[in-house]
Amino acid sequence: MRLHQYRSYRQYRRRQEKKNRRQIDRVWATEREMTAVAEAVKARIPGARFGLCHGAKAGWEVRQLREQLEIEVLGTDISDTAAGHEHMIRWDFHETKPEWIGAVDFIYSNCLDHSYDPDLCIRRWLSCLRPGGLAFVEWSALHGPEHSTEDDPFGATEEEYEALLSRHGVVLDRLHVPGEDGHRYPLDRRIFVVGRTL
Ligand SMILES: C[S@@+](CC[C@H](N)C(=O)[O-])C[C@H]1O[C@@H](n2cnc3c(N)ncnc32)[C@H](O)[C@@H]1O
Repeated sequence: MRLHQYRSYRQYRRRQEKKNRRQIDRVWATEREMTAVAEAVKARIPGARFGLCHGAKAGWEVRQLREQLEIEVLGTDISDTAAGHEHMIRWDFHETKPEWIGAVDFIYSNCLDHSYDPDLCIRRWLSCLRPGGLAFVEWSALHGPEHSTEDDPFGATEEEYEALLSRHGVVLDRLHVPGEDGHRYPLDRRIFVVGRTL
């Protein structure tokens, strides 16, 4: 496990914003992955009404999940580019809004590797789930320790992700989503399905 150390929060934020602007047109998430998440939400969270996607850039996965689930889904991104997109807010995902606490049916994120403090981050995400709510946290080979950089500070193996998630919640399942040929990032994904400890 590796965690890049920043001189200050300001430096962290600037690195994230800079990379976001540099790669604003790229989408990491895949259709296959969004379908897997939507199907899991339908099967495991009956009556789900509100979801969050953390680190959603221009909101691609937010639109996918809104269409598939036909419910309210809001995306966060630390960059000011978020403000120009529908159903997106500029927001650091380490922070919670009072109205989210214990009130969110599901959270999806493929960006835990952008956290400056993954334990804090997971604690805060899980605190937003209502009882029965679930977090879907993506891992891929590019989330591994050797990929920890100033831009993607947190790198860990799949097993280390599981251990981290299990420190704060209950890992209920791990979805295996094969990569998509023709996608810019065609690698396989794992999605940890995590519930709150009560
Ligand atoms: C690898 S991109 C993934 C974007 C999108 N989820 C996708 O699948 O294409 C990571 C995103 O996380 C955002 N990000 C990084 N740190 C963040 C933070 N602390 N809070 C919210 N968003 C953050 C970045 O600005 C960037 O848009």
